[in-house]
This record gives sequence, C-alpha cells and structure tokens, in this order.
Amino acid sequence: MNMKSIKLLSLLIFIAWAAPSCVFLEDRLLVGMTLVRDAAAHGAVCLDGSPPAYHLHRGFGAGEHNWLLQFEGGGWCNDIPSCLDRAKTHRGSTRHMSKWEVFSGILSNNAYLNPDFYNWNRVKLRYCDGASFAGDGKFDNGTSLLYFRGQRIWEAIIRDILRKGLATAGNALLSGCSAGGLATFLHCDNFRNLLPLNTNVKCLSDAGFFLDIRDISLNPTMRSFFEDLISLQGIEPNLHKKCTQSFAFPKWCFFPQHALKYITTPFFILNSAYDVFQFQHGLVPPSADLHGHWNRCKLNPAECNATQIDILQGFRRGMLAVLNPFYQDSGRGGMFINSCFAHCQSESQDTWFADNPPRVHNKTIAEAVGDWYFNRRPTKEIDCEYPCDNTCHNLIPPPPKVSQIIP
Ligand SMILES: *[C@@H]1O[C@H](CO)[C@@H](O)[C@H](O)[C@H]1NC(C)=O
Ligand SMILES: *[C@@H]1O[C@H](CO)[C@@H](O)[C@H](O)[C@H]1NC(C)=O
Ligand SMILES: *[C@@H]1O[C@H](CO)[C@@H](O)[C@H](O)[C@H]1NC(C)=O
Repeated sequence: MNMKSIKLLSLLIFIAWAAPSCVFLEDRLLVGMTLVRDAAAHGAVCLDGSPPAYHLHRGFGAGEHNWLLQFEGGGWCNDIPSCLDRAKTHRGSTRHMSKWEVFSGILSNNAYLNPDFYNWNRVKLRYCDGASFAGDGKFDNGTSLLYFRGQRIWEAIIRDILRKGLATAGNALLSGCSAGGLATFLHCDNFRNLLPLNTNVKCLSDAGFFLDIRDISLNPTMRSFFEDLISLQGIEPNLHKKCTQSFAFPKWCFFPQHALKYITTPFFILNSAYDVFQFQHGLVPPSADLHGHWNRCKLNPAECNATQIDILQGFRRGMLAVLNPFYQDSGRGGMFINSCFAHCQSESQDTWFADNPPRVHNKTIAEAVGDWYFNRRPTKEIDCEYPCDNTCHNLIPPPPKVSQIIP
C-alpha cells in the first residue's frame, strides 16, 4: 500500500467514524451528498428513477443568511438511446454519482480564493435529468423506462433547501455552468418568485449563453439538437411564460438570447466569446467537418489558419450583437465576455480567482461578479478580440464524445 492509498483509507475510516458533511483532502474542501428522499412522492427523480441530490456547505459569520445555488452542468440527452445510456452513468443517476464533491472557485470556503461568497451557504444541485432541470415527462414502452423530471427535481430541491434556511435568505444568487448555466436563464425569475420580496435575488450564468446559430455548413445544428430535446423531455410548458406568450416561436425561448429580455431579475452573463463547447459542437460540429480539417484548430487556437480565425471572429461578433441590447441597458445586469478558449470559468479556482487568473480591463471574474452583486460598480466587461488577451487559461477539453452530446 502506498502513501496515497493509506491516506485515502484513513480518510474513508474517518468519514465512516465521524459521518461529517464535509472533509478536507489535500486542502480541497469535499462536501457530502444529501439525497432528497421525499422527492419521489412528487415524481421528482433522475432519468433512472433514483432520488435527486444536492451538496450543501453551511455558511457562517456575516454570510450565515446568504445562499448561493449552483446548477451542475454536463450536456443533454435528446433521444431515447442517449438517455438510456445516460441513465446508467453519473449524469443520469445519483446511484452512479460521486458522493463527495470538491467545492472550488465560486463554491470555495476560503476568503482568499473566493472573497465575496466564501462564507455563504453554498449548494451544488446535482444534474441527473439531461434537460437543464426543465423537462417533465416519462418514456415507458414496457421494456424501457426513463423519467424526464428536471422541472420537478428543481422544485423538490428548492422545497428542501427553503426548509433549511433559504426561506429567510438575506442575499441569494442562482448560478450554474454550461447546461447548468442555461438552467439559470430558465429558472431565474421563478427562483425570485419563490423567495421573500425583501431577499436580494440575482442570477449568474457561466458558459450558458448558447447561441441560436448555424454551423459552418449552414445547418441549424444547435436548433435541431434542442428541438429534439425540448419535445422528448417536455420542456416547452416550463419555459419563461412571458417569453412564450410574446415570442413568435415559443420553443426558442429555450435559447437565452430570445428569453433574456423577458427576465426581470438582475442577471450576470459570464461567457467566453470563443466558448469551446459551442465552437466544437455548435459552430463546427463533426457533421460539418467530415474530413477533420478543423481538428487541430479545435484543440489549439494557435493552429487555426486565417480563414478559421475569421469564422471564430464572426462567432464572437454574433454573440456580442445579440448581447448588445443587454449591454446598452442601464439596468442591473452585468457581464464578463472574455476572449479565452474556455467553457466554465466560475467553478475552477484557476479561472475564478487565484494567483494569476484571467482578467478583462484588469478585473478578475470573481471581482466582476462581486462588484455587480453588491452594486459596488457597474460591471459590463467585454474583452478585445483574440489573440489580444494574454491572461487567458485556455481550457480546451480532449476531443468530445460526440454521440453523447450533439449528433
Ligand atoms: C422500447 O424502447 C427501446 C429503446 O428504444 C427498444 O430497444 C425496445 O425494443 C422497445 N420495446 C418495445 C416493446 O417496443
Ligand atoms: C484554412 O483551412 C481550411 C480547412 O482546411 C481551408 O478550407 C482554407 O482554405 C484554409 N485557409 C487558408 C487561408 O489557408
Ligand atoms: C491590476 O490589478 C492588480 C491587482 O488587482 C494591481 O496590482 C495592478 O496594479 C493593476 N494593474 C493596472 C495596470 O492597473
């Protein structure tokens, strides 16, 4: 047995002995899972029928009555085979999930690493429905059974946390990354309405601003993918009511760019203008690059040729164009659109706030979000275009498992 496994073993013995709700492993905060057991009575279950879950680390001191909720992300499943596969993994079942989650970045409890939210009650909502916590339906053909209950999971978790102190929150922030960032657009006003009028409620989406665009071969890849998702999982009735009543194409209220103007709760949009997920799956999906001409560019922007860079600059301009009304609005919105090849920058310590984090106009993401949340100063930061920003931590994932995310 080596040192590492001895450490791990003693950690496990310690957990079994003390049954704490959190532990520290090599300076990382690990927070234990809470299953929402009575959720099944409300039909709120994961794809495979297992109970939904969250991880809660209690606030303290001045943050004792403040609440940060973070939706976990992780793609979507938009047809029966992909949802059946997903139901057998940690993305579709709490039975297969890690029971301990690292709390870092915006979830960290360390004042030096997370200056504005470290002492809040911080909650990570586990993602097991495959539809950004917004579906409501079921598939049952006698041999296969799947639950599409994201909306009910959201409601069940909120009910549980309201009882644990959220109902008397002074400050509250609903956040999330990727599919979880999209969930913050979908649930922000609903969250506002569930809390007392005197609670200060705001929402933050990280890497959730999925654009309604055509890919490089002019196919509406994202639309087709979301269209299947919306109908399979029964999402449309749960979209923002004001948007679905006013917008000519109600189901496209699923796209943040169409729903945004109907959201009345103060909102912060954190996104890279070259979001690598959207680049790899929405702008240049494998179906639009059958010969793999983009493979090297997808993994390293320095390998993109001039034509490819032009296309990426067009993507950025498109994002800024649809964000322009929000940018011009003098209301309580905030934004941080940087030019790093990244996807999700609030959960990782490297990008949130650390020794050398990405900056725009010399401001870190944690400072920008804190300044906006506490009304310290208006915060709408837009970075100059690639490759001007030398503070980036380009976070490009290994080649995607295409079949699980976008066909
Ligand atoms: C039910 O659906 C699954 C997945 O699509 C399929 O493999 C199976 O054959 C279906 N069973 C029946 C009875 O149609
Ligand atoms: C860049 O690469 C693409 C894909 O291989 C190719 O079609 C295009 O002509 C190249 N452009 C330049 C300027 O080399
Ligand atoms: C940028 O911010 C850092 C710390 O926040 C500060 O030390 C530095 O002087 C600032 N640089 C400029 C050019 O304002």
